[in-house]
Amino acid sequence: MKVLITGGAGQIAYSLIPLLLSSNIFNTKIDLILLDIEPCMEKLEGVKMELEDSNFEYLNSLIITSDLKTAFSDIDLAILLGGFPRLPGMERKDLLEKNFEIFKIQGTALNDYAKPSVKVLVVANPVNTNCWITNKFSPNIPSENFTSYSYLDQERLAYLLQNKYNQRYEDIKNIIIWGNHSSTMVPDVSNYNSEIKLDNSDISTIQNRGASVIEKRKLSSAMSAANGIIKHITKWFHGSDDEIISFGVYNTNSYKFPEDMFISMPVKAYENFKYSVIDDLEIDSKTRTLIDISIKELKEEIYLVKHLL
Ligand code: LMR
Repeated sequence: MKVLITGGAGQIAYSLIPLLLSSNIFNTKIDLILLDIEPCMEKLEGVKMELEDSNFEYLNSLIITSDLKTAFSDIDLAILLGGFPRLPGMERKDLLEKNFEIFKIQGTALNDYAKPSVKVLVVANPVNTNCWITNKFSPNIPSENFTSYSYLDQERLAYLLQNKYNQRYEDIKNIIIWGNHSSTMVPDVSNYNSEIKLDNSDISTIQNRGASVIEKRKLSSAMSAANGIIKHITKWFHGSDDEIISFGVYNTNSYKFPEDMFISMPVKAYENFKYSVIDDLEIDSKTRTLIDISIKELKEEIYLVKHLL
C-alpha cells in the first residue's frame, strides 16, 4: 500500500504517522511518502530520522520529498494534510484563496501522476471546498474516489453523547454530521436514539469545538485529527459493518442537495474503499433548516473560488 501524506512536516502528520505505522490497517506494510514544500525539507529530514529510530512494524519504505512527481506517482492513497493553517480568530473559509493554489497544484499532480484508482482524503481546511478544488483539477480520477474529512466532528459528537447524555461509546452508532466542516455543520443523533434531543448549546459545542481547541492550544487540533483520520481510512478500507458514518462526499442529488459539491453526509462503507451514500433517512424540519444553511455556506465558498478555476 503506497500512501502519500502531504504536509508531511506538519503537526497533524506528526501525530498521524505513528498511528498509521503501528497497526496493521491495510493488512500489509506501507510504502510511505511524505511531501512538503522546500522550506520544510530540513524539518522533514528530522521526521525521517525519528521514523528510522522508531522501527515501526508496518513501515516498508520511506521517501521524503518536495517533488510532486516523486510524491504522487503510483500511489494508492493520498492524505492531503498540507495547507495554510487556521489561526486564532479565523474562520475555516478565510483560508479559501490561500489554499486554492495549493489544491490546484495537488489536484493537477494527482491527475498527471497518480493511478485513476487512487483514493484521496482531504483534511486541510476548508475541507469540503479544498476537496472540490482538488477534484476539479483531476478529471481522470472519479469523484467518488475523493472524500473530505468530517470524522473528527463525529468523534466529538460521540464524546458529547457520553459526557452529557451518559451513553457508552461502544453503543453509539449511526450518528451523522451533515453539511460543511465549519461552524454551520449539523450534528444529528436521531438515527441513533430518537429520545435524545440535541439542544442549541450541544449543536454549538460541536460546531465550534475546532475553534475552542485553537483558542487554547494556539494551534489547530492534531492528536484528535490524526485519530479521526485513522478511523476514517480504516472504515473506508475495511467497511463500517453496516454502521452509518459520515464522510464528505461528492453529491449527486441526494436529499435534493445541490449537485457538484462535497457535503458531509451519511454513508455506509464496504470493503476495499467502497461506500454508498445513505439517501433515504428522515430529516426533521429543524435539522433540514440547519443543513440548508450549511449548504448555502458551502455554495458561497465555491462561488468565492469558482472564478479561479
Ligand atoms: C478542527 O475541526 O479541529 C480542524 O478542522 C481545525 C479547525 O480549523 O477547526
